[in-house]
Amino acid sequence: MLKEVLSTLDQRRDAALSALKDLLRIPSVSAKKEHAGDCRRCAQWVADHLKESGLVVTLMDTGGHPAVVAKNEHKAGRPTVLLYGHYDVQPPEPLELWTSPAFEPTVRKNSAGVDAVYARGAVDDKGQVYAHLEAISAWQAHGGLPVNLTVLIEGEEEIGSEHLEAFVAKYKDLLRADIAVISDTGQFDRGVPALTYGLRGLVYEEMFLTGPSHDLHSGGFGGFAPNPANVLAKLIASLHDESGKVNLPGFYDDVELPTAEETAAWAKLPMNVTREASAIGIPFDSGEKGYTALERMWARPTCDVNGLTSGYQGEGAKTVLPSKASCKVSFRLVPKQDPRRVRESFRAAMVERCPKNVKIEFVNHGASPAAVVPIDTAGARAALAAIGEGFGKEATFIRGGGSIPVVGLIKKELGIDTLLVGYGLPDDRVHSPDEKFDLDAFYAGIRTSAILYEKLAGLGR
Ligand code: BES
Ligand code: MN
Ligand code: MN
Repeated sequence: MLKEVLSTLDQRRDAALSALKDLLRIPSVSAKKEHAGDCRRCAQWVADHLKESGLVVTLMDTGGHPAVVAKNEHKAGRPTVLLYGHYDVQPPEPLELWTSPAFEPTVRKNSAGVDAVYARGAVDDKGQVYAHLEAISAWQAHGGLPVNLTVLIEGEEEIGSEHLEAFVAKYKDLLRADIAVISDTGQFDRGVPALTYGLRGLVYEEMFLTGPSHDLHSGGFGGFAPNPANVLAKLIASLHDESGKVNLPGFYDDVELPTAEETAAWAKLPMNVTREASAIGIPFDSGEKGYTALERMWARPTCDVNGLTSGYQGEGAKTVLPSKASCKVSFRLVPKQDPRRVRESFRAAMVERCPKNVKIEFVNHGASPAAVVPIDTAGARAALAAIGEGFGKEATFIRGGGSIPVVGLIKKELGIDTLLVGYGLPDDRVHSPDEKFDLDAFYAGIRTSAILYEKLAGLGR
């Protein structure tokens, strides 16, 4: 039956692209209240699509943006697969840097000369979710999926999946499965498809400094009043030492190093540091001394400022000593690091390093631990083979530097591993202007999804 499914999918390419474009037109930006209605509309779009494929679908309240849960007919003796994805997207700003508007999906050639669809969410994660929706509907049109499938598509991944922990805990029985599948990562490179088996975790903090009660004349008070902008710069500078290590007490205590086997395998991957640096417009790379680029991105923890604000940002010069300064800081974590310990260590160090005439406050913007999935399993081998067949090139094992909070939840609450079957590319500009999804990767992703369900069916329970 797979043969018929694949041939249907080949005939439906234009229809699939046009459906994906419809999905991409919905501005489901989870971070902004003004888009709450769009998020609901997007959830409804996904729900309707799954309904048309013959699944039983519910739009479920999570306390935040709704989640879509759908099931085909579950039959005894077949493995149950939990497919997770997210319909929400990152804010599109800065809008002026988009070649075509973020929510008007447009097909044009990318820098490699390959057709791609450009839009916010093209690859993260609507395009990858849609690859599965397409595969599901083709299977359903040919006698039904070969596995018991439970679909969970949520709308808060890009804001930390805040409500999902309680949701997964509450609906454990509904979500119970033998294995989970997520397509929300990428290939290693163009022509090097991959199965991701590790992701970093995340701790996100916002820090607010207040000096004087109001803005001051910087001549009248400079030299007397503390300047929270100066203090912020100093605090941020204190977060790294000369070798690029994060300078917080205990930060590296629990860090689990990759095995010698892993680093040896990574060293064989076709990584060209100079080329990767030049692709993002820098002459050479940065980071912690003593580690390769892949080790630094996949298996070493980091700290990065994601935003900072203080003082006068308008046109021209204004001699002002600002009352306030703030920044957003995130830490990427590796296996065995405890997000709570990292947060506590950060806060304690900042309080200690901050002059006592400047008030310091924090807001917690979420956390999730790193996740590594075993690769010596039948599921991982099936996924690797599916990717290889779907992309027509042998697939390889990689880790990723990003985070998907639900992977840890799925392990903790449902006790199962996740197969991270990603279809994107490093040059997709996720979270940036001009996000895109190469069309050949989209079509290969659709095929891979269809093949994967058959291979997972073959594993039995
Ligand atoms: N799809 C990404 C995660 C990702 C990106 C994995 C690149 C591997 C490589 C996901 O949508 C994402 O952006 N996650 C956030 C999580 C956060 C908001 C809790 C991230 O990594 O910043
Ligand atoms: Mn994503
Ligand atoms: Mn994302």
